[in-house]
Amino acid sequence: MAAPGAAAGKDAWSSKTAFMLAAIGSAVGLGNLVRFPAEAGENGGGAFVLFYILCVLLIGLPLLLSETLIGRRGQAAAPVSFRRVAEESGASRRWEWVAVLGVLSAFLVLSFYCVIGGWVLYYIGIFAMDLLDTGLVGGAFQGVPAATVEGLFPQMIENGPMTVALNLAFLVITMLFVLRGISGGIEVAAVWLMPAFFVLLLGITIYGAFGGAFGETIAYLFTFDFTKLTGPVMLAAVGQAFFSLSLATATMTTYGAYVGKDVNLASTSTTISLADTSVALLAGLCLFPIVLAAGLAPGAGLGLMFQTLPHAFQEMPVGSLLGLAFFVMVGFAALTSSVGLMEAPSAWLIDGFGLGRRAAVLTVTIGAALLGVVCALSTGMLSGFHPLGFWNLFEGQGMLDALDTLTSRLTLPIAGLFTAIFIGWIVDKRLTDAENGLDGALHHFWRFLMRWLVPLALIAILVVGIFPDLFA
Ligand code: PHE
Repeated sequence: MAAPGAAAGKDAWSSKTAFMLAAIGSAVGLGNLVRFPAEAGENGGGAFVLFYILCVLLIGLPLLLSETLIGRRGQAAAPVSFRRVAEESGASRRWEWVAVLGVLSAFLVLSFYCVIGGWVLYYIGIFAMDLLDTGLVGGAFQGVPAATVEGLFPQMIENGPMTVALNLAFLVITMLFVLRGISGGIEVAAVWLMPAFFVLLLGITIYGAFGGAFGETIAYLFTFDFTKLTGPVMLAAVGQAFFSLSLATATMTTYGAYVGKDVNLASTSTTISLADTSVALLAGLCLFPIVLAAGLAPGAGLGLMFQTLPHAFQEMPVGSLLGLAFFVMVGFAALTSSVGLMEAPSAWLIDGFGLGRRAAVLTVTIGAALLGVVCALSTGMLSGFHPLGFWNLFEGQGMLDALDTLTSRLTLPIAGLFTAIFIGWIVDKRLTDAENGLDGALHHFWRFLMRWLVPLALIAILVVGIFPDLFA
C-alpha cells in the first residue's frame, strides 16, 4: 500500500548506500568514542563488553529492524508513522505516544549532545593552533607542563560564556545541514564525513598499536569480572546499547521513512549494528594503547578523552597532528549523530503539525539552545543545580548529567519496551511480514524476540536497574 504521505517529490535518500551511511553516521558518535570505552573500563571490562554485545544482538538489532520497518511503512515522522501503522492494524492511534516519548528523548539528547560537541570543537581549535606553533615533529604542547594541559579541560568547562558559545556553534553547524533536508543535507554530511571518519579511526588505531601497549589494552578491556555485573550496570549496558544504536529516539524510524521499498531492512539493520559495535570496540583499541603507552592510568569518564588523551599526545611523535586528527574524527562522528537528533523532532513538526522545514528546524534549534545553555552552564556556574536530585538515580547530577541519565537509563529503555510490545503483539503480522525482509527460521526467531525476550528482558533490567536495593 502506498502510504498517504508518500507524495511524489517527497525528500528521500538518494540510494541505499546513502541511507546506510546516514544510519551508521547516526549510530556512531560520542556514545561509541567517549562513553563506551569509559563504561567498559569502569564496569568490569570483558564482562560488560560481553553483556553489551548480547544486548545489541538480542535486543538492539531486532528493535532497530522494528523501528526502521515502522518508519518505512508509515512514510512519515515517527509519531505519524506509529499512528498509521497502528491504524492499519486496527489498533488505537494512541500508540503514537511511544514515538512522542522518542521524539522528546531525541530533543533532550540533542540539547546535551551539542554541549559535548562544542567541547570537541574547542580541542580541534587548540590542537590546530598547536600544530601551527610547534610544527609536525615531536609531541603536542612542547614545553607546557602536563598538569597545564590536563587543566585545560576544567578551565574550559567552568568558563560559562565559552561553553555556551561552543554549544551554539555546534548547534548551528548541525542546523545548517538539517535545514537542507535529507538528500541535500543530512546525506551530504554522512557521505563525506563517515568515510573520512573510518580512515582516521583505522589510521590512529594502527599507529597506536605500534606504540606497544596493545597487550595491556587487551588485558584492560577484556579481563572478565562478572562480580561487577550488577543491576545498575546491566541497565547501563542496555541504555548504552540503545543510545549507541540511536534507538527509541524516533531517529531510526524517521530515517526509515525515507528508505525505498527495495531495501532489505533486515540486512541493513544487521550491517548498522555490526558497524556500530565494531566502532565501539575499535574506539577502545584506539584510545587505550595511546594512553597506556604514555604510562598513564586510563581513568574514567570524560577525563579520559579530554584530559588523559591530550596529555598522552604530548608524549607521542607527531602529537599535535595526531591530536588534531583525533578530535576532527570525534567531531565528524558527533556531527553525523546530532543531525539525526535534530531531524527527528523537526520531522514531527513538519509531518504532524504542518510546519515548513525552515520553521521546524529553527524551532528545534532554538529550543535545544535554550535547554543547552542550562546544560552548558551545569559544569560551571550552575553545577549546584541538580534538577532531578530528589531521586537517588540522579544524585549530585547537574543538568547535563541528569539528562544523560534520564534518557539512557529511563526514557530510551521504556520507549524500547513499548515499541517491542507494539511490534510483537499489536501490529498486524501481515504487515511486518511484508516489510521485514526476513524469511524462514529467522523470521520466527525475530517474532519470538519481539514478543517475549525483548519485553521481558527490558522489564527485568529496568526493575533491577531502578530499584537495586530490592535485590541487594
Ligand atoms: N548514537 C549516537 C552516539 O552513539 C547518539 C544518538 C542517540 C544519535 C540517539 C541519535 C539518536 O553517539
